[in-house]
Amino acid sequence: MKNILIIGATGQIGSELTMKLRSIYGNAHVVAGYIRGAEPKGELLESGPAEICDVTDGDAIERIVRRYRIDAIYNLAALLSVVAESKPLMAWHIGIDGLIKVLEVARQHGCMVFTPSSIGSFGPESPADGTPQDTIQRPRTIYGVSKVTTELLSDYYHRKYGTDTRSVRFPGLISYKTPPGGGTTDYACDIYYSAVRGEKFICPIAAGTYMDMMYMPDALNAAINLMEVDHARLKHYNGFNIASMSFEPTQIFEAIRKYKPEFQMDFDVDPLKQANADSWPNSIDDTCAREEWGWKPTFNLDSMTQDMLTRLSKRLLG
Ligand code: SER
Repeated sequence: MKNILIIGATGQIGSELTMKLRSIYGNAHVVAGYIRGAEPKGELLESGPAEICDVTDGDAIERIVRRYRIDAIYNLAALLSVVAESKPLMAWHIGIDGLIKVLEVARQHGCMVFTPSSIGSFGPESPADGTPQDTIQRPRTIYGVSKVTTELLSDYYHRKYGTDTRSVRFPGLISYKTPPGGGTTDYACDIYYSAVRGEKFICPIAAGTYMDMMYMPDALNAAINLMEVDHARLKHYNGFNIASMSFEPTQIFEAIRKYKPEFQMDFDVDPLKQANADSWPNSIDDTCAREEWGWKPTFNLDSMTQDMLTRLSKRLLG
């Protein structure tokens, strides 16, 4: 990778991935693609090139790819699971009509493509514990349906045209810079905001509901390391399971209480979020990612909690 385009550079993943890629490849070599209404600000805007890049506008993508001689595209444009359920057609339009535009430009210009998949690509018929890499995927959400389609389309372009497409199935991502907005796993971010603000947290997910989660620094490393690895080492390409921790609401609450003993939590379960969570794995098996490209997470629940509380306190309270 020499010149990189991030589509969705101002979102939860994009805002951090863009800065990390700039620190590795050089500021001028990483273009922040954004849509109107989600303009980059601060260091994201000031540190390197930025272009309007709607994922559903193939001509715009192609213009940027030509202008900056892009050789790798990180396609992060998507609606998360809860928002997607209220706008299924838009979720499909962004997730899949958009992906086809990206893949077509990549095919014609020889770009690599990274498009996230998710634990949401599994469904109630998938084995819930230690969900294997290759198993039944019959998700019940439009988010999951579009993620399975993402994996299949990316594999299709790889097989048919030799386009170098790669992806991971991200767990719920926890971060302190940009909030996720509209996902089922958002509670695991929101809980830290409440803890730092000294507020009681109202948890929308029932006690006992396990889901895979990951701290953002590990997620960024996963994306970059997978894109960097020698193609010949890979057997799977699209949709690697990656895992670092699985917990249920009471466990993250207790992890925070270790540092904030006065912190309180109540439950007010959101039926849509709960249904999504119940249909997703409790924990996934990431053996293939470990074997094929050396995936290894660095944070666990306790080290993430310490880091989140420290950094979020600095951000929110100064
Ligand atoms: N974080 C996503 C969501 O909750 C799942 O990958 O929608």
